[in-house]
Amino acid sequence: MNALDAMHARRSIREFTDELVPADTIHQLVTAAGRAPSSKNTQPWRLYLVQGAALDALRSDYLAAFDAKTPAKPGYPYSPNPLPEAWAARAKDVGIGIFKHKGIGRDDLDKRHAHDRENFRFFGAHQMFFLGTQASAFAYGTFLDCGFVLDNLMLGLTALGYGSCPQFSVMIYPDLLRKHIPGTEDTLFISGLPFGRPKPGSLVNEFQPARLPLDAWFQTVD
Ligand SMILES: Cc1cc2nc3c(=O)[nH]c(=O)nc-3n(C[C@H](O)[C@H](O)[C@H](O)COP(=O)(O)O)c2cc1C
Repeated sequence: MNALDAMHARRSIREFTDELVPADTIHQLVTAAGRAPSSKNTQPWRLYLVQGAALDALRSDYLAAFDAKTPAKPGYPYSPNPLPEAWAARAKDVGIGIFKHKGIGRDDLDKRHAHDRENFRFFGAHQMFFLGTQASAFAYGTFLDCGFVLDNLMLGLTALGYGSCPQFSVMIYPDLLRKHIPGTEDTLFISGLPFGRPKPGSLVNEFQPARLPLDAWFQTVD
């Protein structure tokens, strides 16, 4: 699979098999992802692989926090508030789209809640990356550099036949990440990335939100 094929093939995967990605494959993937460019080669990213008993304990704390309606305390604002109108319309489309795709009706609040809760179960993944950077040294450009690593991981996983789903939702409880991941007192967590083998025949994994036509966001000046 070449780079363009991987970009086309990647989509968010929200249901996984129990198969583990082998440690040597993860090593190769992370090594390749770390080839990402960064301004002045600062390489400001920090990446944590959480699996096994550590992920089970983290998941249990996340579900407890979600179920207790613990107030969100994200380390950074992901989006402008309010969203520009056109962005808000697309966000609404994807929200409604995934519910429709899963056959969840507008008024089925229980199923909607269960869908949201899946985020805090990390979609049942057995392995998860958490991407972060040094909290005390943050600037906007740092996020750009870190984003390259996240995309490399996602595309690499796709090329290897695996799948993943970037997750901002789980960034609302950074204190839990600091509790379970040692040495992260000065880490600003940016995104979670549950990953694994996509579950064959999974309905939710078939969901693919449309993209804008090129002329809506691309222009040539010559
Ligand atoms: C940084 C980031 C955070 C995201 N957070 C979540 C999340 O918390 N839960 C979720 O289900 N999807 C999340 N998504 C996935 C987006 O909804 C998805 O990328 C978008 O709808 C396009 O779909 P695709 O990834 O399948 O192409 C996130 C995507 C990005 C890039």
